[in-house]
Amino acid sequence: MDSRVLHFPAKLAAFVGRYVARYFEKGRFTPTPTPYLSIETTNICNSDCVFCANSVMKRKKGYIDDGDFEAAVEDFAKNGGTKIDFNVTIGDPLLDKRLMQRARYVRQFPQFKTLGFVTTLQWLHKKDLDEFLELFTWVSVSITLSGRDSYRKFFGVDKYNDALSNLKMLLKAVHERKSSFEVVISIKPTPESVQEICSHPDFIEINELYGGGLEAEVRERAFYADDWLGAVKLPDYIKRRPLYPRAFRPCSILYGKLMVFSNGKVSACSCRDFEASGDLIIGDIRTDKIMDLWRGDRLKAIRKDWRLRNKVPDTCRSCRHYVY
Ligand SMILES: C[S@@+](CC[C@H](N)C(=O)[O-])C[C@H]1O[C@@H](n2cnc3c(N)ncnc32)[C@H](O)[C@@H]1O
Ligand code: SF4
Ligand code: SF4
Repeated sequence: MDSRVLHFPAKLAAFVGRYVARYFEKGRFTPTPTPYLSIETTNICNSDCVFCANSVMKRKKGYIDDGDFEAAVEDFAKNGGTKIDFNVTIGDPLLDKRLMQRARYVRQFPQFKTLGFVTTLQWLHKKDLDEFLELFTWVSVSITLSGRDSYRKFFGVDKYNDALSNLKMLLKAVHERKSSFEVVISIKPTPESVQEICSHPDFIEINELYGGGLEAEVRERAFYADDWLGAVKLPDYIKRRPLYPRAFRPCSILYGKLMVFSNGKVSACSCRDFEASGDLIIGDIRTDKIMDLWRGDRLKAIRKDWRLRNKVPDTCRSCRHYVY
């Protein structure tokens, strides 16, 4: 019999155990005193990944307003905020021409000890690397490491050589400086076999510079993805993540994070609302203060309606990133 069939009952039992235990975990339904704030400084991205909603996104492409950005960060800092990143829902932060200026602004507040973002790294060579390593503390790199062709097929752009040389440059610089800067490599799903990817010379070189361990990342690479609330048709080789049960159980994200979109809208979650217009929008940095929104009635009502009346926000109903 297929070993996956034999393992299924054990895996299911382990999942049920975790699912039940998590419900009773202390603080599971208590908001943190201050949120972890993601700021999408731009929603511009040049790539067109096979599983991304970038090509169907209709909202205006642009950058966050400088004044609104600074006012929001300053106010957040003065009111107890300690955690910021530049993660986007759609976009690539390295395409923000004012990224370094914004990072400098954030890092003047000593309470923000870390700063980073998820990126393809295709445009790192446009920034000053020394300053980049001073201002930021981490990046998570979305990439494939098995040649130009499979990169182009996945990312929809012929930018493999830039992404790869920037990744090498970054890993070497971090190594030479013995810097604590953290680089995470996230290998994207392609139809090639694990063996094919792991034997590619680029994979071998990067794995060495990375200090090893990337084989596990290839084996576990996200064959399971989300289809952006049905807006994106995933290729056959990428399966959708399971839709975990969520009745009367608000997503954990609603208790610890907030998102500021590049258009100024503030959302209870950065995850799926690629148009920045859904029912998790709770305010706007042009008119509201982050901490008022965090403690405010709108967010309380979203959590309470879900927890007590099982009124799940539309955005969350079919979201496969739901955190139980
Ligand atoms: C939306 S991107 C934005 C940052 C940057 N453009 C990048 O791709 O690294 C953030 C992360 O979401 C991932 N992503 C995009 N579409 C996805 C999907 N349908 N399912 C799972 N992850 C997805 C990307 O691969 C990336 O790691
Ligand atoms: S996943 Fe990232 S790089 Fe790919 S199209 Fe979407 S925003 Fe751009
Ligand atoms: S279910 Fe999805 S969209 Fe809703 S809060 Fe969780 S991660 Fe965000």
